[in-house]
Amino acid sequence: MFRLNQNLEIVACAIQKNIIIPHIIISLIYMSTPNEDLMKEHGLLNRLLLIYEEIINRLQTNIIVSHQIIHNVAKIIRTFIEDHHEKTEELYIFPLLINNNMEVELVNELIEQHKLGRIITDNIMKLTLQNTIDKTKLIGNISNFIKMYRYHESREDTIIFPKFRGLSSDQEYKELGEKLEEEEDKIIGYSDTLQIVTIIEKYLGIFDLKIITNKVKNNIYV
Ligand SMILES: [Fe+2]
Ligand SMILES: [Fe+2]
Repeated sequence: MFRLNQNLEIVACAIQKNIIIPHIIISLIYMSTPNEDLMKEHGLLNRLLLIYEEIINRLQTNIIVSHQIIHNVAKIIRTFIEDHHEKTEELYIFPLLINNNMEVELVNELIEQHKLGRIITDNIMKLTLQNTIDKTKLIGNISNFIKMYRYHESREDTIIFPKFRGLSSDQEYKELGEKLEEEEDKIIGYSDTLQIVTIIEKYLGIFDLKIITNKVKNNIYV
């Protein structure tokens, strides 16, 4: 509640001074719910997986891609996805389901995948620090990561998050939303991470959706 009042004061001040930036004002007034936060983070993870796909494409077709960039992508996954997003799931989302004896087998499998994801990210970070890169191992690790996380996200979005919402009272859900916003303020948050991801997408030429649309338009199968 404190945050909401504080945000409204900032908005009032911006309006008084004629500094009206609609998207900033909307984000200040509107606090996202835990599931909106988590699914927004899955959206960011999906963009990171698309980056990984483009990196594989470049490695396989011998188009130059900076190893530092690949290393940085793995680092973003470590910081924002593994240390923040997955920590949130393990601290607040999964325990509620397990305590209610709901989807226990699936939750345990998802935790196993979190652990496996960390091992793969370690491998990618180590491989991209070497002078001569083992391309086969790098492609293998990145492909495994993409495949596992596509399945992983699909189950969380369609089973885990909706069931978590069903088990939380409105008050608990609201309080968790506030807590998650505060926790995100302590790390490099969603907006900053999204900006870095956008820069990498532009570097790889996969930011502009028109490029993707045109590629499909030129390859219509009739
Ligand atoms: Fe997860
Ligand atoms: Fe997740």
